[in-house]
Amino acid sequence: MKSLNFANGDQLAAIGLGTWKSKPGEVKKAIKTALNAGYKHIDCAAIYGNEQEIGEAFNEVFSEGKIKREDIWITSKLWNNAHLKDDVAPALENTLKDLQLDYLDLYLIHWPVAFKPNVQMPDGPQDYLTPQEAPIHETWEAMVELKKQGKVKHIGVSNFSTKKLDELLDKTSEIPEMNQVELHPLLQQNDLFEYCAEKGIHLTGYSPLGSGDRSEGMKQEDEPNMLENDTIKSIAHKHQATPGQVLIAWSAHRGTAVIPKSTNEGRIKENLAASDAVFFDKEDLKKLAEMDRHYRYVTGKFYQVPEKGYPNIYDE
Ligand code: A2P
Repeated sequence: MKSLNFANGDQLAAIGLGTWKSKPGEVKKAIKTALNAGYKHIDCAAIYGNEQEIGEAFNEVFSEGKIKREDIWITSKLWNNAHLKDDVAPALENTLKDLQLDYLDLYLIHWPVAFKPNVQMPDGPQDYLTPQEAPIHETWEAMVELKKQGKVKHIGVSNFSTKKLDELLDKTSEIPEMNQVELHPLLQQNDLFEYCAEKGIHLTGYSPLGSGDRSEGMKQEDEPNMLENDTIKSIAHKHQATPGQVLIAWSAHRGTAVIPKSTNEGRIKENLAASDAVFFDKEDLKKLAEMDRHYRYVTGKFYQVPEKGYPNIYDE
């Protein structure tokens, strides 16, 4: 299994289990299956609404003693309604309580957008705080404090453009260690990839399989289905792998982490085996590179609120 190296010597297994959209009633079994199958990396977030159930799985698995907490990398994310500097530590405490943990391996600012405290999902512009009311560098400094206290081992961001990273780096000496963004062959984000490599910021790719289980409201008309894409299918056929494995292996091959979501036992195992199942040759890599068309499944339009200082969340 490929891994990503951090400055303090820590290593992150490239392929992790995503839990966005993993339903209550299913996610506990999925986590237990994944840990027992050898996953060392689990990606969570407060807003996914399933951290309590994930915490039950962690508690049960770790107390059995076979798998140790310290051998698993657990990520979670600060929700947009806790960006004010005094709200960051309490939000982490809630996540730790729900996950039944006493530290996280990685804590990320989930989105570069702030809601008023107590607003879970905004109904309109009135529910947002402007970047002046909730400066992102103050949120970041509160994250830095959590790292100093040892409550989180690493800190980073999610959904940050190069512009937003630049603005943050101008105001802090503590560089985010991770940026979690949407990445797959249809959205390769080469500029962001190179920028992060140059600054020493790791990337994690979400929606590597196209997140076909998103709610209908989040989908666009005529979305491409990467799992049915002819190039992906032919590369899969050539390596006797599945299309899902080709997509996951592409991310790992590129040196990023990747967090395919599944609650299905067979696919959980299949996904973990991806980078051992597919060894790309030059021709495969050329074909995959040519698939790039800057297509976003997660458009971010829901956070486009110019009157509150958020004209385009991805700055494009
Ligand atoms: P399931 O949970 O039933 O396995 P993403 O990670 O891009 O958000 O995509 C998640 C979606 O992809 C879910 O619908 C998930 O369904 C499905 N999925 C996960 N792994 C595979 C795979 N190896 N092949 C096909 N579909 C998969």
